[in-house]
Amino acid sequence: RKENIGITIPAEERERGIQRQIAARTRAEGLCELEMERVRKDGSRFPAHSVVTAMVDPEGRVSGFVEIVRDLTRRRLLERQLRETKEFLENVMASSVDGIVTTDLKGHITFLNRGMEEMLGYAREELLGTHISRLYVKGIQEARQIMEVLRARQRVENYEMQILRKDQEVLSIINSASLLRDGEGNVIGTVGVFKDLTQQKRLEAKLKETQAHLVEASKLRALGELVAGVAHELNNPLMASQTILHVIEGELHQDCPNKDRLQVIRRCNERIARIVDHLREFSRQDRPELRPLDVNVPVDNALLITEQQLLDHQIHLERRLAQGLPPVMADPNQLEQVFLNLISNARDALDEKEGNKELLIQTLLEQRAGHRWVVVTVKDTGPGIPPEILDKVMEPFFTTKPVGRGTGLGLSLCFKIVEDHGGMLEINSQVGLGTEVRVLLPAMMSTG
Ligand SMILES: Nc1ncnc2c1ncn2[C@@H]1O[C@H](COP(=O)(O)OP(=O)(O)O)[C@@H](O)[C@H]1O
Ligand SMILES: [Mg+2]
Repeated sequence: RKENIGITIPAEERERGIQRQIAARTRAEGLCELEMERVRKDGSRFPAHSVVTAMVDPEGRVSGFVEIVRDLTRRRLLERQLRETKEFLENVMASSVDGIVTTDLKGHITFLNRGMEEMLGYAREELLGTHISRLYVKGIQEARQIMEVLRARQRVENYEMQILRKDQEVLSIINSASLLRDGEGNVIGTVGVFKDLTQQKRLEAKLKETQAHLVEASKLRALGELVAGVAHELNNPLMASQTILHVIEGELHQDCPNKDRLQVIRRCNERIARIVDHLREFSRQDRPELRPLDVNVPVDNALLITEQQLLDHQIHLERRLAQGLPPVMADPNQLEQVFLNLISNARDALDEKEGNKELLIQTLLEQRAGHRWVVVTVKDTGPGIPPEILDKVMEPFFTTKPVGRGTGLGLSLCFKIVEDHGGMLEINSQVGLGTEVRVLLPAMMSTG
């Protein structure tokens, strides 16, 4: 059966006279190419590409047409999928906070996403075409190393390295990279994902510090309660013992041989009493009585008490107290305790040393992180603290002194008091050179 080709052309196109147009163009140019919808027998439509050519008889007249029609359904589908994939990938790349960079085989940057631009502070155009090693702190050497691993293992995972921002700031990043291939599987470059660790590292360090601080503070609080109980329990029998001792001493006649022995017991009791006092001081639960105070006052008081003793120990004391410091909110008795403890630690340390024994007590004003601190430093030229015990010295009951000399409570008491004052206690020490303890107290705002 003969059918006119026209039935495969949609009715509306036929009405517009498309067939005549095609015939005219084909006659004129010998060939007509076009894309349009066509109609199947069941009435459904599909996109099609067609080429129409004219058949010409020997006299040069057009005797008919040949049309080659190709169904474009599959191609259109692929095109749409490709476009969607591309848009999807572009979206993913653009919204990733991690940096994504591709390079060619020589290491020249061929693409970078917005995350990378922001991380580095460069605009895309500044980097496209430049060599990736320019971003690496270790330069070309590191780029080669990464490429070697890529060639050997196809990928690099979680490689920690440092890169340079445009403003020369160094960023710690973690890099994962793999090889880029074309359709035939040939390697055409690399793709790398850069995760910025700098911020994370900073936060981690801060968190650790805070945690250590909290642990220290809560340990001290728990211990304070325990110690308060112990001190209380010890005090009663001690009082009884002292009283009875006193009575016995009074009743002994002058040349009794036990008199010396009782002296020894008395001295032991006195020592116990001193320790109990220390424990009570340490566990004192009451809040400090804060008032505006010139920090030089408790420093001077502490020196007044210890000066003679320092002289006896051949220690040369230098005091450098700044005048006109802003006041601090503080309890003068508690601060005096702190300085007494620090000075007696310095004295013990200097006792262990031959020759040059110097103690420097200094007060000054310091600006740090936008805050003003009144600082008291106690610095000795003693043997110093070995690094492996440096972070233990503030722990309650940690002492390196012989039994009977140290209680190990001095520095933890200082720590607690300074903490209660909203301040900080820092220890810098170098074996063989000496130790410096710094007490930082928040300076009060000047009232003008
Ligand atoms: N100025 C210092 N020089 C050297 N070591 C020190 C100094 N201050 C403290 N230390 C060390 O810290 C430890 C703990 O000090 P502290 O808490 O005051 O307890 P104590 O003085 O009773 O031992 C000391 O035993 C000592 O090892
Ligand atoms: Mg001490």
